Amino acid sequence: MKRAAKTEKSAKKINLGVIGTGWPGQQHARVMSDIAEAHLYACADLDEARRAEFHATYAPQKCFGDYHALLQDPKLDAAIICLPNFLHFPAALAALEAGKHVLCEKPPTMNAAEMKVLHEEAARRGLIYYFSRQFRFTPGMRAAKGLIEAGRLGTIYHAKATWVRSRGIPQGIGGWFTEKKRSGGGALIDIGVHALDSAWYLMGNPRPLAVSAQVYRNFEHLVQDPVFDVEDAAFAFIRFENGAVVQLETSWAGNLPDDIPQGQYFGREINNSVVYGTRGTIRLKPLTLFEDQSGALVTVPVDLPDDTDSFELQLRNFLDAVRGRAEAINNANQAVKLMEMLDAIYASSVSGREVPIV
Ligand SMILES: NC(=O)c1ccc[n+]([C@@H]2O[C@H](COP(=O)([O-])OP(=O)(O)OC[C@H]3O[C@@H](n4cnc5c(N)ncnc54)[C@H](O)[C@@H]3O)[C@@H](O)[C@H]2O)c1
Repeated sequence: MKRAAKTEKSAKKINLGVIGTGWPGQQHARVMSDIAEAHLYACADLDEARRAEFHATYAPQKCFGDYHALLQDPKLDAAIICLPNFLHFPAALAALEAGKHVLCEKPPTMNAAEMKVLHEEAARRGLIYYFSRQFRFTPGMRAAKGLIEAGRLGTIYHAKATWVRSRGIPQGIGGWFTEKKRSGGGALIDIGVHALDSAWYLMGNPRPLAVSAQVYRNFEHLVQDPVFDVEDAAFAFIRFENGAVVQLETSWAGNLPDDIPQGQYFGREINNSVVYGTRGTIRLKPLTLFEDQSGALVTVPVDLPDDTDSFELQLRNFLDAVRGRAEAINNANQAVKLMEMLDAIYASSVSGREVPIV
């Protein structure tokens, strides 16, 4: 994976603390050494073995068990929160209250009400709240976004957002992924949120108006964790203010047909978005533009831009936002809207009706 050139020579480095040292925490830490103004100041994790392994690999200056102690450290500038979902809100709020900027893993929170509190708290204190969605920075997404911004799709009216697995129910330490009070939900809040956000971002983040959806839990027999009270699949139809709609399909488990390719870990798997416009349609994987050229539908292969690491580009944008040099691409306002869509999907599934987002 190519890394961006080390260009900045800014006087003071930004001291970053990674809270939660599982896979996502390691990805954020991994790219810091390629960003001149980023300094991996500290980490925090309750699990001693994970903490030790993280320290051995990435060498932060300090390691904490309790993240509250890290947040009180005056040298810390920003917290990178990679905890189980139910801790995103309390940890992000504690970080903001301690005067630290926040980069928080997805889902931003467990619901929109929590996210609104964080948005207001960050705004009140002049701090950045940033939700991690590194997929916005992949080469395919950057190329697709560029073509859309150049007008190649015309007016976007529809997108299909898909992340389905046939056998891919995650565990997490202590089985938190499958327990609603610790995860906030199942396949939707775990991987559906990625698929929905990719399509929504490419569409230009239109304002969501209403949702009709159904979620299911059909595959309990595949899970050994003591608690499995979340959905393993969700299907949604979302209307936006500009008249566009999204069809979202997501599953951790399903008896998927064999036209869906076998993935590396989770059985058959597709993670893709297709965005339809009046002049053209773009499919993310493989990245292709289907374009109306004088009435004929032409398939146009698209070159990928440089393959700079998506976590690195995301962290660079976060740091630029912290320094006031750029707008945060994954901003708190969008995090609220994203959580409102997820809330409405769950509410519609319970009521059996279309749910407005006000
Ligand atoms: N962006 C992505 O592609 C991506 C991928 C995987 C996970 N995630 C997100 O990252 C988050 C973490 O997921 P994970 O797979 O690493 O989970 P995990 O259970 O493997 O790891 C969570 C870590 O947090 C630590 N922890 C738990 N409670 C703590 C506390 N009170 N104080 C300090 N440390 C504590 C645990 O010891 C563990 O090391 C989730 O929100 C998940 O949705 C994002």
